[in-house]
Amino acid sequence: MTTPEHLPQNIILCGFMGTGKSSVGRILAERLGWQFVDTDALIEQREGRTISAIFAEDGEAKFRDLESAVAAELVNYLHTVIATGGGIVLRPENLANLDRAGLVVCLDAPAEEIARRLAQFTDRPLLAGADPAARIAELLARRKGAYGAIRQHVDTANRSVEQIAAFINELWQDSHVSLEAENPGRNKNSET
Ligand code: S3P
Repeated sequence: MTTPEHLPQNIILCGFMGTGKSSVGRILAERLGWQFVDTDALIEQREGRTISAIFAEDGEAKFRDLESAVAAELVNYLHTVIATGGGIVLRPENLANLDRAGLVVCLDAPAEEIARRLAQFTDRPLLAGADPAARIAELLARRKGAYGAIRQHVDTANRSVEQIAAFINELWQDSHVSLEAENPGRNKNSET
């Protein structure tokens, strides 16, 4: 499928852990005939170790540097749906790089829903403590401003991954590269 030139050439999915970035991203990429990449997977491939191992062996700061390096490279991608790690928005320069790479969309979900979705997973070092639900609420509150800086938001609660992918596809078709650049405050499709 050809992609009209006036549309963003990549779609970048941001949002907290457990908001469905990878599941939605895979389906969206399939619909568009694009490739799918996940920034955490890129970091793991490059490092030859898991995100948990990077956190345990070198600490979060090292992981954030690796993440920033990947964010800076995304502008070189074409026709790709990119799922990002939940903390990529913590550095404003990362968000600027994501904006340059394509249409950035933030997936949202309430803390309780995120806690339910992540209950069976053990691969999130930031949630490894005794009370993951409290930690999720705390991190969400702390990151409110960072996620809020993203123009386009999609509420993922009570929607299937197919519905969310279809909605983002519409957002993308309604977006326009030059319009976005001329009028960055534009927010007509935002749901939240
Ligand atoms: C993180 C989110 C994770 C991963 C790392 C840190 C975060 O990615 O990058 O564990 O700080 O929110 P997912 O959002 O894909 O779980």
